[in-house]
Amino acid sequence: MFSHSTLEKNSILMLIGILIVVSIGGIVEIAPLFYLESTIEKVKGMRPYTPLELAGRNIYIREGCYNCHSQMVRPFRDEIDRYGPYSLAAESMYDHPFQWGSKRTGPDLARVGGKYSDNWHREHLSAPRSVVPESVMPGYPFLMDNPAKINDIAGHLKANRAVGVPYTDAMIASAAADIVAQADPDSDGAEALVERYPKAQVRDFDGRPGQPSEMDALIAYLQMLGTLVDFSAYKAQENLR
Ligand code: HEC
Repeated sequence: MFSHSTLEKNSILMLIGILIVVSIGGIVEIAPLFYLESTIEKVKGMRPYTPLELAGRNIYIREGCYNCHSQMVRPFRDEIDRYGPYSLAAESMYDHPFQWGSKRTGPDLARVGGKYSDNWHREHLSAPRSVVPESVMPGYPFLMDNPAKINDIAGHLKANRAVGVPYTDAMIASAAADIVAQADPDSDGAEALVERYPKAQVRDFDGRPGQPSEMDALIAYLQMLGTLVDFSAYKAQENLR
């Protein structure tokens, strides 16, 4: 009979044996993934970003807000007590690139939507120490004066579609109009916008009517973070409370 000591004394045979065993383990773990439709649990309420929110997200990335802020509430009791329901994978399925992060010089922002007024955000982003005296966050007052870029937003939607975000042709065609409509509560396009993007918040975010500014875009983005999914339906979250 084949003795185990033969295997242990012959390094090449041992190597081949190891490869066979590791491959079996690998296949058992990897093969099922090819037969699953999705590894992300579907949740109700998730939709792609509106053009204004996406523009705000691009500013968030450009300004490096992620260097101090994460966007993922971990499933630990202290995190849930502080920030709210822990993050679900599906909540970042349209994020390219994702903003989970692990650096928290400032608080996690995954659930910051609706926590403060637009006014508070405008003051805070312009001069953080005017509302939080001990803050070490830098100010971004120039966002008020920079108009949000409108002519390239359709391209951003298209780029996101190329990596799997379900933007429709209609959404791309109306992207430039939608970005203006969301920051103007009196606009004709507001109703169609909310139909395309349920729960989209339409208002003048920066308090200055007219052409949307980068401040409008960034506040629109911050105010929607964590607001799409209705967490009352998620029983698992209760176990950690
Ligand atoms: C140098 C690190 C740093 C950078 C960069 C930074 N922040 Fe902050 N942020 C902080 C700190 C610290 C706080 C907590 C004190 C405060 O509220 O100002 C904070 C607080 C906040 C809050 C309030 C969160 C809450 O729940 O109270 C928001 C919103 C925010 N930051 C957004 C941003 C955005 C948007 C950017 C990029 C434009 C940004 N921050 C860049 C450090 C930073």
